[in-house]
Amino acid sequence: MNVISVIGGTGNLGLPVAKQFLTDGFKVRIITRDKQSARSRLGDEFDFREADLMDIDSLRGALKGSHGVYINASGYSKNSYYENHVLGTRNILEALEGEQVECIGMISTASAYPEFSDRWDNKYKLEAEQLLRASGLPYLVFMPSWFMETLPRFRQKNKLIHIGPSNRPIHWLNAADYALIVSRAFQNSECRNRRLPIYGPEGISMRQAMLRFADHHQLKVKRLPSWLATFLGRLSRDEELVDVADLMQHYDRTGEKFVPDVTRTTTTFDNWLRTSSLG
Ligand SMILES: NC(=O)c1ccc[n+]([C@@H]2O[C@H](COP(=O)([O-])OP(=O)(O)OC[C@H]3O[C@@H](n4cnc5c(N)ncnc54)[C@H](OP(=O)(O)O)[C@@H]3O)[C@@H](O)[C@H]2O)c1
Repeated sequence: MNVISVIGGTGNLGLPVAKQFLTDGFKVRIITRDKQSARSRLGDEFDFREADLMDIDSLRGALKGSHGVYINASGYSKNSYYENHVLGTRNILEALEGEQVECIGMISTASAYPEFSDRWDNKYKLEAEQLLRASGLPYLVFMPSWFMETLPRFRQKNKLIHIGPSNRPIHWLNAADYALIVSRAFQNSECRNRRLPIYGPEGISMRQAMLRFADHHQLKVKRLPSWLATFLGRLSRDEELVDVADLMQHYDRTGEKFVPDVTRTTTTFDNWLRTSSLG
């Protein structure tokens, strides 16, 4: 495998994976909707190609000659989850017809199980995974728990907004450890056609993680009950806020699934905190 294309490689969690592939000696293409902006932000180390998940021709051109494809798609509403995960994956697979792809991988979530598919994100990630499986291409589905790098996204000025209660334990992992696992899995030709749940070393609730992050960066924590976050999100037509509140409520109901056979990352919360920034 020589050329790996990272779709969504400009994303919060796509970029660390793209960087790790580069460190590990691959030629890395970042597939983005705006290559000029991506290049000015990320420099010249990558080969930037422009494509949109909704445009098969653009995907065909951008992905031509890729030996590996890693998909870092996201969303914030029922519609965007459906478009980016299901339609996006379908289009990528159509664009790859005739290509010699040795491995196609996607970021999913630790909650991608049928019993949790009352949440649209989980449901459509599962559907995307089924499309990969049905394609006949060697595939990998990465199922990480929560990323520590998510915490700064809850900051508003000098406050951290804690939507909750969210007091169930979460096995937090960091993006660098995750990226290493993804790259190693792509390089191991015996690791194919698998779902890989990936958990961090310790179970810490969102509430505890927020308090520790806030304390470290001298922020205040403002509590926002998830029902109120939903109400405010609907009132202001903020789909992202409604989705985050739904995610918190879902997690409060289900918690993290106990899975006996997970890949464990090693960076502890305290170790990550020491090098963390406010984003
Ligand atoms: N945060 C967590 O703790 C956590 C835990 C488990 C799983 N995950 C999953 O991780 C995934 C990725 O998250 P993230 O934070 O990296 O997302 P993100 O920062 O929003 O990145 C999404 C990427 O998708 C690209 N994109 C969006 N629409 C596109 C389109 N129509 N065509 C082509 N590219 C498009 C964007 O690229 P351009 O704008 O450059 O085109 C961007 O690079 C999500 O599915 C999330 O559920 C997150």
